[in-house]
Amino acid sequence: MVPKAELHCHIEGAASPDLVLSQARKYGVDTSDFLRDGAYHWYDFTSFLAAYDAAANLFRSEEDYALLAEDYLTGLSREGAVYSEIFTSPDHAERAGLSRMAYTNALGEGIERARAATGIEGRIIITGVRHFGAGAVEDAARFTAACGHRLVTGFGMAGDERFGNMRDYENAFEIAREAGLGLTVHAGEFGGWESVEAALNHIRPARIGHGVRAIENPDLVRRLAEEGVVLEVCPVSNIVLKVFPDYASHPLPALLGAGCRVTLNSDDPPHFHTSLGHEYQVAREHFGLDDATLRSLTRTAIEAAFVDETTRTRLL
Ligand code: ADE
Ligand code: ZN
Repeated sequence: MVPKAELHCHIEGAASPDLVLSQARKYGVDTSDFLRDGAYHWYDFTSFLAAYDAAANLFRSEEDYALLAEDYLTGLSREGAVYSEIFTSPDHAERAGLSRMAYTNALGEGIERARAATGIEGRIIITGVRHFGAGAVEDAARFTAACGHRLVTGFGMAGDERFGNMRDYENAFEIAREAGLGLTVHAGEFGGWESVEAALNHIRPARIGHGVRAIENPDLVRRLAEEGVVLEVCPVSNIVLKVFPDYASHPLPALLGAGCRVTLNSDDPPHFHTSLGHEYQVAREHFGLDDATLRSLTRTAIEAAFVDETTRTRLL
């Protein structure tokens, strides 16, 4: 099996329908709006974000979150993953009634349990939610900078890219940069190439979540390659959310061919009927990547991981 590593997966978006249903029974909540017949239901990006919020709202205690992280990383390890960074969202936990620190500690506990059982190494990237506004994202950055958790190594921003301007979030990312955290930001998914350029100019992240719509501007693709910015590409997510109409139009092979540093990721796996293993399979079948190239994508992910050098060397 080709070894795998994942840099871009939203932990609330990784909750399996079975786990969400058992949480719904625990809290006596009806899920039929967003989860029916054992599968998530939504029809566009906005309704996907609503389904994501509804699922997240069913994780309310420390044990709920520990189980979520343990369940996800244990399954990932079975697919051949040796490393996983999970995107976490303390804003969602607070809305569900749990403090940000209790939430972060609980996810850390789940990661430790999965590591003890399988050997998979995990880290936490705390994210702010763009459409909650610049103030909320700054609060998330301040919390990340101060939280002191051993497994928290990065800061990012997810959410609706159509909301606000990149420059509104500069302060948040400055706070995180000054704290020595790795930086990643969603751009070039529902925003065009201009969004990727704005991320490079205003945020200066080491990595970009998606970034695929940079393909609309060849000069920008050259810049990404020259600056070595790593793209967290999520092919199945892009097709299911209709960022591109089909795999033949997906730019992953062109970005790779242009010398960009590309990684494979699952984003919100059960929402998109995918998994990290499936993303590697899609890259093999639809993009024609051979095992040597797939191994090199894993290597890129480990090189770009927000992890200490001792662990990186062990993983490489
Ligand atoms: N949050 C969870 N999944 C996301 C995605 N694909 N884009 C932006 N924000 C997200
Ligand atoms: Zn994402």
